[in-house]
Parts: sequence; C-alpha cells; structure tokens
Amino acid sequence: MAAAGGLQRIKVFGSFFKKNPFLPSCPILRPRRPRISMRAMSKPYPFRLFANLNAGTPGTVVLPESGFRRARAEITSWPGYAETPLRDLPAVAAEAGVATVRLKDEAGRFGLGSFKALGGAYAVAQVLGAELARRGVAANAGSAALVAGTHAAATRGITVTCATDGNHGRSVAWGAQRFGCACVIFVHATVSQGRADAIAAYGAEVRRVPGNYDDAVREAAKVAAAEGWFVISDTSWEGYTTVPVDVMQGYRVMAEEAARQWAGPPPTHVVIQGGVGGVAAAVSVQMRATWAPPPLLVVAEPDRAACLLASAEAGAPTAIAGDLDTLMAGLACGEPSLLAWQELARGAAFFMAVPDEAAVDCMRLLAGQGIVAGESGVAGLAALRLAAADPAARAALGLGPDSRVLLFSTEGATDPELYQRLVGQGAEHG
Ligand SMILES: Cc1ncc(COP(=O)(O)O)c(C=O)c1O
Repeated sequence: MAAAGGLQRIKVFGSFFKKNPFLPSCPILRPRRPRISMRAMSKPYPFRLFANLNAGTPGTVVLPESGFRRARAEITSWPGYAETPLRDLPAVAAEAGVATVRLKDEAGRFGLGSFKALGGAYAVAQVLGAELARRGVAANAGSAALVAGTHAAATRGITVTCATDGNHGRSVAWGAQRFGCACVIFVHATVSQGRADAIAAYGAEVRRVPGNYDDAVREAAKVAAAEGWFVISDTSWEGYTTVPVDVMQGYRVMAEEAARQWAGPPPTHVVIQGGVGGVAAAVSVQMRATWAPPPLLVVAEPDRAACLLASAEAGAPTAIAGDLDTLMAGLACGEPSLLAWQELARGAAFFMAVPDEAAVDCMRLLAGQGIVAGESGVAGLAALRLAAADPAARAALGLGPDSRVLLFSTEGATDPELYQRLVGQGAEHG
C-alpha cells in the first residue's frame, strides 16, 4: 500500500516493537528512491531513508569496556586535552519542530580541527607501545613516556602509515610527531592540496596515489607489507582489527563527553555521519553503554558514497563502486569497516543518504550562528533537517515536539579555502 509522500509501508508484527527498544512506535517505512521532500523550511532536496529491521538485536561486542577505559585514561592525560563544547541549537530545534537539538562541536579538538585527533593518534601510541614491548625495550610504554622521548632511540626507527581523505592522516601524522616515530601518509587523487599540506606540516611524508580512498587503503597496506611499516587504519577488514579497535575506542571519548555534558532527560535521537562507519559505531556503543534504552541512532551519509546504507539494504557489508564524488570528503568511502558494520548492523535504526547541497546549506546555517563546521561535519544536521521537514520520514523516525536530538559536528574548517568558497566567509567567524 502506498503511504503519504510516496513511501511504502512494509508489514511489521506487533511483537517486533516490543522486543525492539530502538524503533519508534510508528509504521516502518521503506522509501522509494529518489525521495523528494515536499514540505521543508530547509530546501527540499532528495534523500534516501532505510529502516533497519535488525536494530536492537543482540550481537558481537566490538569495543570492550576495558579498552575504552584505557583509551580515555591515556587521551585525557595528553597535553592540550580539553572537552569540546556541546552547543544548544534552539533555532534548529524550532525549525525541526522538536524540543531540543544539541551539537557536539569537534572543531577545536587538540587544534587538529576534527574528532579524528582522538583515534589515529591514540592507535599510534598503542602500536609503538606494543612494538617496544615486543623488542624488549619497554614492557608497558604509555603515551607519557613516548611524549617525554624516553624511548626515542627505538621509536625513531619505526614507521607508521595510513591512507586518508584528510583528517585521519592528520591525526596519525600528529601522533607520530608527538610520540617520536616516522610517518608516511597516502592520499588519493581528489584530496585537496590544503589537506595534504596540513598533514605534511606534522613532518609526515605525503604520497599521492591514483584512484579513490579505498584504492589508497590498499596501496598503503601493500607498501607497508613490503617495507615493514605499521598500518594505522581507521577501517578494518578480515584479519585486521586490533588497530581499528583502538581508533574507535579513541572516538568513544567524544561520545562519552557528549553524554556526560547532556543535561536533563536523555536524547531520544542521535544522528551521526558515516564514512567507513567507525565513528558511528563508536557513538552507537557509547550510547548503548550510557542509556537504556539507548536513543534511536540514525547514520547519515553522502548520497554519492552511501556504503553503510547499501550494506543495510543488502543485509551484509557491501562495497559500492564509482568515484564517490562528494564534497563531504571525509565521508567519501565505498567500503564499510567490518568491525563498524558488526556494531551498526544492530545498533543503527535508520540509514540516511543526503546530497551535498543539503550539507552546504547546513554549513551556512551554522556559520550564521557563529559555529564553524566543515562539509563532512554537517551530514547529521542535514539528515535531521531533511527528515524533520518530510511528514513520512518524520513519522518513521518518531520525531515530534518532545524529541531531543544529539548531533555531532565532527570537523571544523579542515580545508579553510574550501570552507571560504562554500560558506562565503572565512572560518575566523567561529
Ligand atoms: C569530519 C569527519 N566526520 C566523519 C567521518 C567519518 O568517520 P568514519 O570513517 O569512521 O565513519 C570522517 C572520516 O574521515 C571525518 O573526517
């Protein structure tokens, strides 16, 4: 039966809702695509929305609590650590017709411009600690000893590497500089020169390779195997999980801060952007660890790189082809992280794909409120605004006047030139 707004109802049994605390008590809707929003204060861009019927079912523990406690203790002890702000967005809440919208603003994280500072750099410290132990140099070298240069003679001879679309590589390069090892970062064809230069500024060698992000991941793994380097990847695959677990445990620090900063009744909804899914999975785990039942989790991706939505549709991790040509460079990933998928397959209630234009509108909207947010940082806000303005999507997500929504602006102006071009003013307004 066709429902209002062109969505198709699919039959759901009553018992499903009883068992499933993640889903709103409204019919589950599966959209035809492209989906055109009819009523909106934000512009009616097309979007896709997919309801995950497996949300809330038990599954693998991807990020154990002990690992998170270690990550939090280490990261919060680093020089320069400070909580990032959780900002109230009353005008956005009013526009969306919900009670509250709050935005965790990662622009200031360790001076690197994004939450990624928490993940890659922490994994570098962990890899160096493990390697020093294996070589018999130090049994338990933590980041304090590494920062102090206690084992510099040994760490200098170790090289870490990764592929990046910008932010992860910046974090790994910064970590390598901070903890005293060498670093080579692979960037693909469309990574802006500004982002490559920002990585090189931390003393890393930057190598540009043809193809997209996923091609750069493969190239980094190949060269590392030949050279004996350590791959610090933010994505995971069969047989490569230790490092990405550390990366995601680092990301949880952001989610844990947000949950602690959240005052009053818990959020009803959390919207978080997805690239390979690492940060969305970290947020999902942390929300489940904090609130029972957890808020309903929506994963937002660019419509040109929606590999998590494709995986949800297929019911298994699914790679998408193409040049992944989206302005949201940090989210331009075609293959989900295996570990992230294991969490999101049951932790995310909805997957949403949004167009670049909606993201640019959100950058401008936030700029008008004095908040600097980059292209990849606003996908969650774009998804909220599009869903809230569309009656069928609004009903599917259970958005209403009592809803309380947590968003994450995962980056500031990490490419200041592009920011200026898109927003029409420089990042210094923040
Ligand atoms: C600013 C920003 N937000 C979100 C993401 C997505 O993170 P993940 O690839 O872990 O899903 C990235 C990835 O680089 C990013 O740079």
